[in-house]
Amino acid sequence: MELLFLLLLLLLPPPVLTEATSGSHSSWCERGCDCRGDLKFTICSRALFTRLPGRVPPNTELLDLSDNHISVVPRGSFCKTRKLRFLLLQNNNISAVEDGGFSQMEFLQKLDLSWNRISALTAGFSAGLAFLRELQLAHNRLDGLDSRSFLHLDRLQRLNLSSNAIRTIQVRSFSSMSGLRQLHLRGNRLRSLRSGMFSMLRSLEVLDLSGNQIAVADTASFKPLTSLALLDLADNRMSTVGFKTFLGIQAYSTHILLEGNPWTCDCDLHRVFRKLRGVQRLFLDDYSNLTCRAPAPLGDHRLIDVDTELCLAETVTVLIITVTVVITLLAAMLVGERKRRKKKTTTTRHWTQQGDVSDESDY
Ligand SMILES: *[C@@H]1O[C@H](CO)[C@@H](O)[C@H](O)[C@H]1NC(C)=O
Ligand SMILES: *[C@@H]1O[C@H](CO)[C@@H](O)[C@H](O)[C@H]1NC(C)=O
Ligand SMILES: *[C@@H]1O[C@H](CO)[C@@H](O)[C@H](O)[C@H]1NC(C)=O
Repeated sequence: MELLFLLLLLLLPPPVLTEATSGSHSSWCERGCDCRGDLKFTICSRALFTRLPGRVPPNTELLDLSDNHISVVPRGSFCKTRKLRFLLLQNNNISAVEDGGFSQMEFLQKLDLSWNRISALTAGFSAGLAFLRELQLAHNRLDGLDSRSFLHLDRLQRLNLSSNAIRTIQVRSFSSMSGLRQLHLRGNRLRSLRSGMFSMLRSLEVLDLSGNQIAVADTASFKPLTSLALLDLADNRMSTVGFKTFLGIQAYSTHILLEGNPWTCDCDLHRVFRKLRGVQRLFLDDYSNLTCRAPAPLGDHRLIDVDTELCLAETVTVLIITVTVVITLLAAMLVGERKRRKKKTTTTRHWTQQGDVSDESDY
């Protein structure tokens, strides 16, 4: 859909600069912008704007304000251009979106705010964005999310929060977004995953958590994700993994990426991975690329090259114990047997002696 729109844009002839049209355009089209396609496309990229333009054709459907120096989105900024479907604000200097900055944009499908300086999302940020499908917020300065961050984004399908500084995601942060299909959190500062973080995300198909500092994940972390097709946990700090954490994903089939973690290659890890690889609906696509960080002698070895030996020591121990037990048992049995025989011989001898006596008495 979006592609089609952009293609259309490329195919359209540049604006015809006859005096009449340029005159009629200029009343609506801000200097520095290029308004074309029946004024449906307003392109103001690289126009050195430090604030939002005042004059934008009211029936504009695509407004491109990327690569400017805009720093604030004031309240009600777009209330005169309510037919907007695509709003591109990436690569500006935006640090503040005032409450209601995007109010009443019931046709807006895509909002690109990536490469700005946004550090907080208030409840008023998403007011009016109830029909938004895609929100790009990568490369900003967000350090945490809570239940107000995305309050009104009921229809959102794709959310890109890559390359921020997010450390905390409070329970129910995404709870309004039961239709969300892709959540990109690559390159943030998450250290652990707690149950409830991803609650309500029952349509989520792609969860990208790569490039964080995740060392532990609660057993129930992924449980709500019943549509999950791809879970990317590459380049984190996991040294071990819980079987139940991944078994908890109740989706039809899920691919899990785990490369670039500092695995402690021991018998436990081997067992967990063997069990996980046996689960029909889970696919550990990059298993052959996993490398060991510990114990020291296995550093930088690929897990797949050593995993058959990881339980060897334990097998040997079990073997030794078994052999010891068997030997002890055998010894006990032997001793018992010998005692029994000894007893038998003495009794026989006793009888024989008695017999002898009787024999003698016969005489
Ligand atoms: C960006 O905004 C900050 C204030 O928020 C200002 O100090 C800085 O000069 C701006 N930078 C540019 C390139 O406009
Ligand atoms: C997320 O944003 C980054 C940075 O703009 C971009 O490179 C990446 O392609 C985006 N991912 C998706 C799925 O939109
Ligand atoms: C394993 O790593 C190699 C080299 O980095 C890469 O080309 C390949 O795609 C990786 N395999 C998987 C399944 O991710």
